[in-house]
Amino acid sequence: MRSIGIFDSGLGGLTVVREFMRQLPKEDLIYLGDTAHLPYGTKSASTITRFTLNNILFLLRQKVKFIVVACNTASSLSLDTIRGYFQIPIIGVIQPGVKEAISLTKTGCIGVIGTPATIKSKAYECQIKKIDPSIRVISKACPLFVPLVEEGWVNHPETITIAKTYLRSLVDSNRRMDVLILGCTHYPLLKSVIKKVLGGAIRLVDSAQQVVREANSILQNEGLINNNRKAKGSYRFYVTDDPAEFTRQAARLLGFRLSHVRKVNNV
Ligand code: DGL
Repeated sequence: MRSIGIFDSGLGGLTVVREFMRQLPKEDLIYLGDTAHLPYGTKSASTITRFTLNNILFLLRQKVKFIVVACNTASSLSLDTIRGYFQIPIIGVIQPGVKEAISLTKTGCIGVIGTPATIKSKAYECQIKKIDPSIRVISKACPLFVPLVEEGWVNHPETITIAKTYLRSLVDSNRRMDVLILGCTHYPLLKSVIKKVLGGAIRLVDSAQQVVREANSILQNEGLINNNRKAKGSYRFYVTDDPAEFTRQAARLLGFRLSHVRKVNNV
């Protein structure tokens, strides 16, 4: 009956929470948004690893049974290092998105967008090439997307202009990209803008669905799934900075208002 722990730097990981609520409604969830340290995507690997470790230790103090690193930046830069330190199952968001993208591409050319740290790490490229070395991967860092999402500017004309500037290099017709991985958990919130810029022919991969499928199978295999209870799960939300703005934006994203987002100081 223990909870699943999920964390991100801010709002982005709520795209994964939303999917857990949909696919595994009987599970209790504890979410941590490390808003005091947002954005992760412009920071160094050692700093991100320190934040990641602290977030995991916080979730372990809440006695979670399973942890999801719902942040591509932390998954890219820190997951391999820290996973070995803990007994509890921990998954990230890279692998599930990679598998989905490979299964969808017909042209053999996959695009990846993410934070500067994720793109610089080449985590997506390495994972894709490990499975299929013949696939061409083209990547683009989109550093302004995270602040735009955190600000709630998902449909502003300025956001479309910025998206056009970032995505132009990816749609060069010679490159034949037919699948684009949204390699940051904030980016699904910009899906409609990205679709508007790219047109309907390019498939967008939002790894949240695949992440929860993978979580489901691990929970089943480890005998950790909440199968027998009738009631819906309960949800607890924590942030490391002022909860007011997070609470406001989370309501827009989840479709209901969070009654109590707690601020934690010891992360
Ligand atoms: N949402 C996170 C990601 O998936 C990080 C955004 C940030 O803090 O820069 O990469």
